[in-house]
Amino acid sequence: MNKFADVAKKSVMNIKPYVPGKPIEEVQREHGIKDVIKLASNENPLGPSKLAVKAMEKKLRSVNLYPESGAYYLRRALAKHLKIRESMLVFGNGSNELLNLIAEAFVEPGDEVMFSALSFVVYPIAADTVGGIAIQIPHKDFRHDIDGFIKRLSHKTKLVYLCNPNNPTGTIITKEEFEKFMSAVGLKTIVALDEAYFEYVQDKNYPDGIKYLAKYPNLVVLRTFSKIYGLAGIRIGYAAADPDIIEIIERVRPPFNANMIAQAAGEAALRDREHLKNTVKTNNEGKKYLCSEFKKLGMEFVRSHANFIFVKFKANSKVVFEALLKKGVIIRPQFDSFARITIGTMEENKKLAKALKAVL
Ligand SMILES: Cc1ncc(COP(=O)(O)O)c(C=O)c1O
Repeated sequence: MNKFADVAKKSVMNIKPYVPGKPIEEVQREHGIKDVIKLASNENPLGPSKLAVKAMEKKLRSVNLYPESGAYYLRRALAKHLKIRESMLVFGNGSNELLNLIAEAFVEPGDEVMFSALSFVVYPIAADTVGGIAIQIPHKDFRHDIDGFIKRLSHKTKLVYLCNPNNPTGTIITKEEFEKFMSAVGLKTIVALDEAYFEYVQDKNYPDGIKYLAKYPNLVVLRTFSKIYGLAGIRIGYAAADPDIIEIIERVRPPFNANMIAQAAGEAALRDREHLKNTVKTNNEGKKYLCSEFKKLGMEFVRSHANFIFVKFKANSKVVFEALLKKGVIIRPQFDSFARITIGTMEENKKLAKALKAVL
């Protein structure tokens, strides 16, 4: 029992703390093995873009200075890239920070915050932090149940998080479903569309949130440099929305939250189309290979549009997780028998398949 539990905000004591993927170094220490791969946090297995690394190195000698709080160069480059106005962007210490800042800016204690019950674990944390009431909509075949969301909308719904593609299942909300939801939701409800894995999706029924910003002023699209751009460790993400929404988020944004090195990395990574193309190719090949290996092993899995696959074991997933650790493979166990596995390089995927064969 925490001796300050009765001093803390009640809503904060409700929070189930975020459990990150197990770090490689920890497994090396605990199991005494050198050769460890991590397929647990949906990172880019090819590493960061070389252009981004160069840009970061160049900035290292200037870190005695504060960064530009408005991220001038990154903002200009990204606005051009997305074909939106510069005033429609706000940057975060990862998109995770922006998920929190949106709740902080819009949700009063007692307001409802809606999201899928099988989605990114940060949404309930963001809701609880500000005293919002979390409304969790059960999933339908591992997908967002958009009709279920619509049925539950009311004047109390202040914020809705939609995760597309969804973490951890990798499923998508289609254009038709998204448009149906946006037509049903009132302008007094903020819709935060989390597109952390946007660049991986290749389905023509997938809606590009940025293209809807002009039509829906209550829409906030969140994206990140952590996933396909391979910059998870430097922490940079962004939200795009109507300038009036951005102006409100800016009020609660801590000064200098997007650091100088991250701004330079993001700007350079945007230019590295080759790195992006290689990553998509590696991911597509890896996904095909892993799905076929999972089938051979008799494992069930959900068809993924992202860089990870949601699988079901016939055994307890924690037991499988522990056994895989001993073989130098880190995955992310979920609930009783599920796990989320990040698609790696072909070499990593083969190591995983071999370890799974031995363990299962
Ligand atoms: C769906 C989703 N949104 C947001 C994030 C946060 O990413 P970051 O804060 O690194 O931008 C993640 C990271 O795992 C994610 O899976």
